[in-house]
Amino acid sequence: MRSHYCGDVNETLEGQTVTIAGWMHRRRDHGGVIFIDLRDREGLVQVVCNPEDVASFAIAEGVRSEYVLQIEGSVRLRPEGSDNPNMSSGKIEIVAKRMDILNSSETPPFPLTGQAEVSEDVRLRHRYIDLRRPEMLQKLRFRSKITSLLRRFLDENGFLDIETPILTKATPEGARDYLVPSRTHPGDFFALPQSPQLFKQLLMVAGMDRYYQIVRCFRDEDLRADRQPEFTQVDIETSFVEEEDLMTMMEEMIRSLFANVLEQALPNPFPRMTYADAMTRYGSDKPDLRIDLELVEISDLMRDVDFKVFSGPANDENGRVAALRVPAGAELSRKSIDDYTKFVGIYGAKGLAYIKVNDLDAGREGLQSPILKFLPDEVVASIMQRTNAQTGDLVFFGADSINVVNEALGALRVKIGHDLGLVKHGWQPLWVVAFPMFEWDAKSNRWTALHHPFTAPREADLGLLETDPGKCLSRAYDMVLNGTELGGGSMRIHKSDVQSQVFELLGISKEEADDKFGFLLDALKFGCPPHGGLAFGLDRLAMLMTGSSSIRDVMAFPKTQSASCLLTSAPSAVSDAQLKELNIRVRKQATLVETAEKS
Ligand code: AMO
Ligand code: AMP
Repeated sequence: MRSHYCGDVNETLEGQTVTIAGWMHRRRDHGGVIFIDLRDREGLVQVVCNPEDVASFAIAEGVRSEYVLQIEGSVRLRPEGSDNPNMSSGKIEIVAKRMDILNSSETPPFPLTGQAEVSEDVRLRHRYIDLRRPEMLQKLRFRSKITSLLRRFLDENGFLDIETPILTKATPEGARDYLVPSRTHPGDFFALPQSPQLFKQLLMVAGMDRYYQIVRCFRDEDLRADRQPEFTQVDIETSFVEEEDLMTMMEEMIRSLFANVLEQALPNPFPRMTYADAMTRYGSDKPDLRIDLELVEISDLMRDVDFKVFSGPANDENGRVAALRVPAGAELSRKSIDDYTKFVGIYGAKGLAYIKVNDLDAGREGLQSPILKFLPDEVVASIMQRTNAQTGDLVFFGADSINVVNEALGALRVKIGHDLGLVKHGWQPLWVVAFPMFEWDAKSNRWTALHHPFTAPREADLGLLETDPGKCLSRAYDMVLNGTELGGGSMRIHKSDVQSQVFELLGISKEEADDKFGFLLDALKFGCPPHGGLAFGLDRLAMLMTGSSSIRDVMAFPKTQSASCLLTSAPSAVSDAQLKELNIRVRKQATLVETAEKS
């Protein structure tokens, strides 16, 4: 139906006749001559309709926004001075000889020209129109390029692309499962995979050696800007490797991706940081290294001070007191400090003490703070020294359980970095390594796996599984980029007895382990090779590389914060007949969304 894409018609085609097809983007009536900008995937081209060409002129007079047109015409250079440098076809125009309307269009719910503010709900409801916007198109095109380059890298490195089931059994990755009722097994359910973790391990047992899959994963969890209920992983597993081999290869893959699509050179090798270090210095296991601010440990200074808020956590083995220096922060207004105090409240912090350093050389007199009266001179001097505070700075303090301090000050560090323009330009990848195997969950009074339960403990720490599980480190690694966890993985447990021991530690009884993971425990007994792997979040990678603020912008048909699809109205009720067939009776109750709206 066409000889060229609109965006591909340029001065090299001068004098030729071309046929183009696309959407009517803009129409201008210039007293007798009508100009139409026709748009397709590759861009825009200007079409000129002269009144002498009676038939096409009549059609041009009637077309409206987003009509689908087919136009045949001859390419000519635009008159001197009317070039448009913003269009790839900006040097030429097409003089229409024939025009056909292939389809009409209702007035679109929002204009595709200009910068009109449109709510995301409206965009998602009419996503097929939203995706016509060049910005969205570019993002999806970019994403496609990423997948194609990653595939090429993995293919060239001997990985086999193997599909794993979507209707399966629960794979624990820390979220709730999406369940699918079975018609043929009344009362039984499939779970949609939170990841193909167990299948990829079974493929290693099967001798596939190197596996990858660009695969949809499903997790029913609270959504955020970088989380969706269904998302895509670049999932990888290899046999007969150690973490060094795998990390080196994965780094190389990401480096070559950035070099190819963004012409950006990432560091070689990526820096590495232990989990303990990341938590102490950044309060986070995915530190954004573009921001230079760091948390400074001051628990030891606060043990004997006369301020319970600080001395309490300082003397508690699960407590922490930390400081965060804000360069030039003395200028922060009372209101800003109050706002930051509210902000850390989200993470459970009960307050946010601070010291303003008005004049460092003036000693106590030069400082301003509601807590100064509680702190002896030598403590104040040590704080100034450790935080390297300068005149004009402000130092914030967090005192609470280690978790609360890390989360609160970790998040504050990032927020202040953005608010005060302290985020450096560029890409700061790193590996976070030496994660603990387990975390104590005080609520349920048991150990939980920091990664998933199939992660191998360090060889040297195997004994700790029995004696001190909290100290046992794992062979897991996360790749972090600019404060986002891009991917994570580990060497796996490949021995059945170690796997059983870990299940037991996690409070999974033998019966439950057999019921849920019996197939894995069996497989590990049949010559399972040492193996490991990782999975990247493709959507997150695309989000970062396109500079998008939300993961939704790099997905064609994303879901909302409440995990629904505005376009199709899914999830939705099903007929009684279907429910009956599935042996399901629904207990009607207000949906979570309705409940939230009422409160
Ligand atoms: P993990 O749970 O860390 O590991 O997931 C791997 C990566 O997937 C991305 N990701 C998400 N992206 C968007 N929305 C979500 N809800 C979401 N959840 C996770 C992140 C994350 O780093 N089976 C293991 C991998 C392994 O051990 O090999 C796993 O799934 O970028
Ligand atoms: P208060 O004695 O409660 O008035 O608190 C004095 C200062 O300490 C105020 O600036 C509070 O914001 C701050 N503060 C209170 N609790 C904490 C805490 N757990 N961590 C850090 N600062 C706190």
